[in-house]
Amino acid sequence: SWTMEKFIDEAIADIRSQVGGQKVVLGLSGGVDSSVVAALIHKAIGKQLTCVFVNHGLLRKNEPEMVQEIFARNFDMNLCYVDASDRFLDKLKGVSDPEQKRKVIGKEFIEVFAEAAAKVDAPFLGQGTIYPDILESIPLDGNPNGVIKSHHNVGGLPENMKFKLVEPVERLFKDEVREVGRMLGLPSELIDRHPFPGPSLGVRHVGAIERSTLAMLREADAIVTEELTKAGWYHKTWQTFAIFVPVKTVGIKNHQRSYDYVIAIRSINSVDAVTAQVVRLPWELLETMMERIVKEVDGVNRVVYDITAKPPGTIEWE
Ligand code: XMP
Repeated sequence: SWTMEKFIDEAIADIRSQVGGQKVVLGLSGGVDSSVVAALIHKAIGKQLTCVFVNHGLLRKNEPEMVQEIFARNFDMNLCYVDASDRFLDKLKGVSDPEQKRKVIGKEFIEVFAEAAAKVDAPFLGQGTIYPDILESIPLDGNPNGVIKSHHNVGGLPENMKFKLVEPVERLFKDEVREVGRMLGLPSELIDRHPFPGPSLGVRHVGAIERSTLAMLREADAIVTEELTKAGWYHKTWQTFAIFVPVKTVGIKNHQRSYDYVIAIRSINSVDAVTAQVVRLPWELLETMMERIVKEVDGVNRVVYDITAKPPGTIEWE
């Protein structure tokens, strides 16, 4: 639209005047927000931008490959890929409290990112902060313990990281960010993608994360997304995903007693993620997902459907 065209022109002019001839480093997650900001800053200053993509071991199936394909190959950006999976998963060992998990992931992310960014030696940090991130991080009733969840892309930068921030979409809502991305030529598979939390599969794996159970979640999530897309429902929902539930139940697999874990499926619609309604996915689709999950994912023998709206639930389980 004309408004967004004007926004892009102004944002590019602002970025150029803020940054001048200097370098910007940006943590690219593969989500909509950081991808759009990467494309926007790249359009403004080209190779003065270096994107750092950290694989924290909690990514979805094929995510590192897809991000490298789009940004390094198609957009010809400076992209630095850091595989820090082992480091994150070792730090997360035995951590089961949801806020603690978020803190460990956020803290580790900043450390790994800082190491990679130090090599780039840029005075500026680009960030995909959007307006709802700021709104949800405002303490309820002025009580700092009253925040709903700590979103790791707001605040939290250590004192010794003397970056100046470049946050060109901090006043935009998600649908506006998507429009900007589309206009900058980002592919639909990235732009029209469901929102995905910064702490990634980490907050969709209830309780302490083991490599083996995380692999179950990653496989189940890929099946859910694949079947949802095949059935033509992907774009009819705001978010649809799998959750790993660390509870073992008795079942029958291959004519034998099994004692395996539970996968939950959650599908919601929303306009701003502040409230959400449960999507009544077709029963046949849910059955197909269930059949494939119990058949293809070793260690899982039961699938349940989450029918909780937000409120009282949150969208993510942790
Ligand atoms: P909740 O679970 O709070 O989620 O109802 C609201 C929306 O925000 C996403 N979400 C996050 N996004 N960092 C993010 O960038 C986070 O830490 C985070 N936690 C939740 C969630 O997927 C939903 O769209």
